[in-house]
Amino acid sequence: MDMERVQAIAFSFMTEGRIPPEFIRSEKEQPAITTLHGYDPQIPTIDFSDPDEDSLTSLIAEASRDWGMFQIVNHGIPTHVINNLQKVGEDFFALPQEEKELYAKPPDSKSIEGYGTRLQKEEEGKRAWVDHLFHKIWPPSAINYQFWPKNPPSYRDANEAYAKCLRGVADKLLSRLSVGLGLGEKELRESVGGDELTYLLKINYYPPCPRPDLALGVVAHTDMSAITILVPNHVQGLQLFRDDHWFDVKYIPNALVIHIGDQLEILSNGKYKSVLHRTTVKKDMTRMSWPVFLEPPPELAIGPLPKLISDDNPPKYKKKRYCDYVYCKLNKIPQ
Ligand code: OGA
Ligand code: NI
Repeated sequence: MDMERVQAIAFSFMTEGRIPPEFIRSEKEQPAITTLHGYDPQIPTIDFSDPDEDSLTSLIAEASRDWGMFQIVNHGIPTHVINNLQKVGEDFFALPQEEKELYAKPPDSKSIEGYGTRLQKEEEGKRAWVDHLFHKIWPPSAINYQFWPKNPPSYRDANEAYAKCLRGVADKLLSRLSVGLGLGEKELRESVGGDELTYLLKINYYPPCPRPDLALGVVAHTDMSAITILVPNHVQGLQLFRDDHWFDVKYIPNALVIHIGDQLEILSNGKYKSVLHRTTVKKDMTRMSWPVFLEPPPELAIGPLPKLISDDNPPKYKKKRYCDYVYCKLNKIPQ
């Protein structure tokens, strides 16, 4: 095991009213000091069932340009499919620690898949108040079932059902985003790998925290993916950085939170924005979230799309293989 799980630490500090010092963020990061309340701009909420494709395209393209994050409602994924995904994830994290460790990310593994606690190196040995489980859910050729919990027994069915529904949402999003760039409906999807586009599920588990004013869940970052599609539970915690401040993103029941990731910012040569976000934690509640990162295959080189480049709009980003991009990002090497 790479380090003690936050879930276990949370349990042993439950009645202490304090947290271990490595979880105390610097004053520049502490949510109690850095969150803006009162003035509350909200990311756009978009009705995904809008039959007017032009209108849907402009709403999505504008949100991706101005915010880099939006919520979609009426997305067509049945509520029971999402509820089942959440239930089996909750059941997994409720298992005894030894049983969860069966799915631990192997120490020498190059892949991100598995149960784990730390994602990237943090300065000064700081730690984030979150555990996670990563595994791919699509395409079938990319799946490693060794990282899919066998308990609860319905884990696999619930995840397969969600993956199936999510593909429809992802394809529709990519086609609207593609048209929003002035491209054909299929071009953007092809540029991120076509049928090889990988769906990487992460479950974030944020246990109750005795000092939510001092700690952070996931620290400030942009997603490396092309797009991220996230299901939260009912506990608010996601924050977005805008106009030099951190804001709470409102929890909307049954909505999916869409993040534009770095690869889409690069492909669009900066037209769509990969937005800085982080998560806060709560004193008495467990927060969970289920982001799916839509990622290009590792060897695919991603750069600004040639059709979007001109003398007036020269490339703003380097072209590089997705695996090299990930390596640099996780090791904090400039891109
Ligand atoms: C992430 C992330 C947000 C959330 O895991 O990349 O940004 O709401 N999660 O948990
Ligand atoms: Ni993220």
